[in-house]
Amino acid sequence: MFGKKSVAKQPVKSSKVLPPGKYRMGGEHFKDDAAFIRTAVQDVQRLEAYCGLTTDSRLLDWGCGAGRLAVGVRERFVAEGGRIADYHGVDIQPELIEWADANLAGPGFRFTLLDVANERYNPDGTPERTLGAEPGSVDVFYAYSVFSHMNDDDTPAYLRLIADALSPSGRAFVTCFVEEDVPGWEENPDGYGPLEWKGRLHCTRFARWHFEDHVNGARLAVDRFEYGRETDGQSLYVLRHR
Ligand SMILES: C[S@@+](CC[C@H](N)C(=O)[O-])C[C@H]1O[C@@H](n2cnc3c(N)ncnc32)[C@H](O)[C@@H]1O
Repeated sequence: MFGKKSVAKQPVKSSKVLPPGKYRMGGEHFKDDAAFIRTAVQDVQRLEAYCGLTTDSRLLDWGCGAGRLAVGVRERFVAEGGRIADYHGVDIQPELIEWADANLAGPGFRFTLLDVANERYNPDGTPERTLGAEPGSVDVFYAYSVFSHMNDDDTPAYLRLIADALSPSGRAFVTCFVEEDVPGWEENPDGYGPLEWKGRLHCTRFARWHFEDHVNGARLAVDRFEYGRETDGQSLYVLRHR
């Protein structure tokens, strides 16, 4: 597929290995090892409860970073003696995918580098968008803190790709900044949230109606909405086919 670079699969090096701090996305939140593992396991449990994730699922972790969710899947399923049918982590930052592939790939776990453009993380990537997934091949789609760094052209386009990738009963778990009574889309809004936003797409915030218009335009529906309880005040959406 265009924009996709294959990364050779390596055996799992250690059942307890974690990404080094410099490769952990999400600011200070995930620097602490215990918090890193705990949030990952909790997200796997939420994927089970909200999206029907099981060991038979095909799980796509879009914007996987160095594989935080993969650590959660490993702790929750593999450490209990099971395995997952397919965990696929994709990201656009080569060093993160290289680390994850060298340290977390193995039976049921794979990582793919996508050389697509994002003004913050990969400004020189190709403008041709891809999720690295075949149509209808994803049972559970996870995008934690990815739409929080996305422009207002990419967002509806990627929501349409998510709809294409989801299996008929598939669910997408995504987080983003949404508020009532704000402009449709803004980059690094002044005085918003706990951080001082710096650089392109550090924080992208949507009006709730605007993000949900994009969801509807992609022929997706909102299955669950939880306001403001995710990292830095992001909200959670669970999406399904309409
Ligand atoms: C804030 S980090 C979140 C990492 C991970 N989801 C987590 O929760 O630990 C956002 C990630 O999204 C990735 N990203 C941004 N745009 C992307 C795109 N178009 N396709 C794939 N990954 C993307 C970035 O490279 C970055 O690793």
